[in-house]
Amino acid sequence: MTNLAQFVEALPKVELHLHIEGSLEPELMFELAKRNNVDLPFKSVEEVRAAYQFTELQDFLDIYYQGMGVLQTEQDFYDLTDAYLKKVHSQNVIHTEVFFDPQGHTDRGIPFETVINGITRALNDGNEKYGISSHVIMCFLRHLSEEAAFETLEQALPYKDQILGVGLDSSEMGHPPSKFARVFARAKEEGFKLVAHAGEEGPPEYVIEALDILKIDRLDHGNRSLEDAALTQRLKEIQIALTVCPLSNYKLAGVTDMTKHPLRQMLQSGLKATINSDDPAYFGGYITENYLAVVEALDLSKDDIITLARNGIAATFCDTDQKVALSKKLDQYLQ
Ligand code: ADE
Ligand code: ZN
Repeated sequence: MTNLAQFVEALPKVELHLHIEGSLEPELMFELAKRNNVDLPFKSVEEVRAAYQFTELQDFLDIYYQGMGVLQTEQDFYDLTDAYLKKVHSQNVIHTEVFFDPQGHTDRGIPFETVINGITRALNDGNEKYGISSHVIMCFLRHLSEEAAFETLEQALPYKDQILGVGLDSSEMGHPPSKFARVFARAKEEGFKLVAHAGEEGPPEYVIEALDILKIDRLDHGNRSLEDAALTQRLKEIQIALTVCPLSNYKLAGVTDMTKHPLRQMLQSGLKATINSDDPAYFGGYITENYLAVVEALDLSKDDIITLARNGIAATFCDTDQKVALSKKLDQYLQ
């Protein structure tokens, strides 16, 4: 392993774009299928991995929604979340902001409280066991209706102490941010932080809608913003963070060659880019592998890596004291 790779591995990192259902490894999928008597259309772990060939976002989403069908009980959500934390603890993640997709579960008859209680119990225990602090962000599935998103927001209100923010994910094309203008306005009134996937597959106009109409606090992906010079300039001026997911982009979003990944241009343009894993069980790597993919392909320097790590801390939804504590861990490592 190179010095730089060792540096990345041990670097204290934060993760800001991680779908907990996307951390479901095939081994756990089989274990939960057995536990819950769920029939899987695969005979082996190898067969599952072989099915993870995607040409676009929708190919992935189809198999991702199918995979989450094994999650049934609070303990299943606990085990899923604990497995993620255990893994990223080994990669020196010190803080994570975890997405979940309630509608992917409530639409299968799993109560909202089963999902949120399993996730937050594991996150609370993980804070003790692994020293990883965390927040939870609930995403609306954008291929579903505005009405369904409103219902989900209502279901979340009793759990406001467990959910810090709301986001927008799933099939981007044809489902612009403006479809959820009123839901996000309501969520803002309720005090939730706001994020949205935009510019992953969708055009720069979707990013502009996410800024102007949804009034997001952080932008998930945002890659296609670079096609619009005025938008790029605006993202630089407002210093909104972008949660970039290199391996995901390689598997789904038309980055055919990591050397062509837009991260370098983002950094050169003065954008506040961060590195994240999105759906690590499906895209071939957790946060360290995502850092390493761009470090190698884009020939990033140690200073670039430190900038990415600092951007991550600055872009968390932590309060000032928490951010200072996270920065201290990073500074101690750098000394
Ligand atoms: N849900 C899980 N991962 C996603 C992604 N990369 N884009 C949109 N929706 C998602
Ligand atoms: Zn995502």
